[in-house]
Amino acid sequence: MARLWVCAAAGAGFFLASLVLHSRFSGSPVLRNLALQISWKREKILYRLDLDWPKYSEYFTGATFCVAVDSPNGLVYIAQRGDNIPKVLVFSEDGYFLRAWNYTVDTPHGMFAASTLQQQSVWITDVGSGSFGHTVKKYNSFGDLVQVLGTPGKKGTGLNPLQFDNPAELYVEETGDIYIVDGDGGLNNRLIKLSQDFMILWLHGENGTGPAKFNIPHSVTLDSVGRVWVADRGNKRMQVFDKVTGEWLGAWSNCFTQEGPSAIRFTPDGKYLVVAQLNLGRLSVMAAPPVGNIGDCSVISTIQLPDQVQPHLLEIDSKTGAVYVAEIGAKQVQKYVPLNNHIHALGG
Ligand SMILES: *[C@@H]1O[C@H](CO)[C@@H](O)[C@H](O)[C@H]1NC(C)=O
Ligand SMILES: *[C@@H]1O[C@H](CO)[C@@H](O)[C@H](O)[C@H]1NC(C)=O
Repeated sequence: MARLWVCAAAGAGFFLASLVLHSRFSGSPVLRNLALQISWKREKILYRLDLDWPKYSEYFTGATFCVAVDSPNGLVYIAQRGDNIPKVLVFSEDGYFLRAWNYTVDTPHGMFAASTLQQQSVWITDVGSGSFGHTVKKYNSFGDLVQVLGTPGKKGTGLNPLQFDNPAELYVEETGDIYIVDGDGGLNNRLIKLSQDFMILWLHGENGTGPAKFNIPHSVTLDSVGRVWVADRGNKRMQVFDKVTGEWLGAWSNCFTQEGPSAIRFTPDGKYLVVAQLNLGRLSVMAAPPVGNIGDCSVISTIQLPDQVQPHLLEIDSKTGAVYVAEIGAKQVQKYVPLNNHIHALGG
């Protein structure tokens, strides 16, 4: 079983072709008869698929919905769905399996590793309807539950106490402030900023198509100049807010005419956004706008995945710049490593 794709790049007047052969496409029976996929684009190649990650893909036994990277400690967390399987898998950044758990995890959707060298932790949004669902939960690195936001097992629209319905994803700042998008097609279409002690600092909570309204806000991240970016999937756009005031700053829709974005993260140098489109099976690298006007989006490079791979959410290692993509259909997480010095890591 092999996956093959060919990409081409036009740099400064020359043409470069690279070939990636992936023979470890293990997970899904739907993909077993996959035809050869060839994408031929005149674009820069910025990443290479790391065929050596993880060392043993047999650990992927469910639909892999999300991935989190704890850069300070070199850990990669993956959450998968399915019956009678471990829900959370922990790997080292070089691909060795470390441990797994499933206790108190129902139906994981999004994740974020908010770690320091002293305290390793991972947050999970849970969209299950069982007794642990409709929550945003913090675990330590060994699966002990340390914090629950929301009313476990009960969906809701409340703000005091805070309730969720299909919370999609979250992003935690170094200050401890938390940004949550809620959610993935449930009762709510909200972006909420919480302080480190879980008080609501500001929120946008309306369903709709106008500015600061959402239809399936699916992924949230921050850039290096204090802006909050939301993948407003159902509205086929990205929306941008001031992180301090919550003020609406603009939106991008010209890159998303076919399908809305499902995942968004910035490269460590802040120069690019990496965006996933689930059903198109596409990863796009877009130019991050400078401070000020958001303007329109512009795609620098794309990675076209085979049909049915379904890249859902992704995370970028803030030290190495490696991009980890959770692929629901392919039932695996793949790692893409930045080539040369196109994408600089922080302090690198
Ligand atoms: C939890 O994972 C173990 C394997 O690690 C599995 O045997 C068990 O059935 C799982 N439990 C649930 C509720 O999925
Ligand atoms: C939100 O609005 C969209 C259309 O703008 C609609 O399709 C969707 O059902 C609405 N969702 C909720 C939860 O009201």
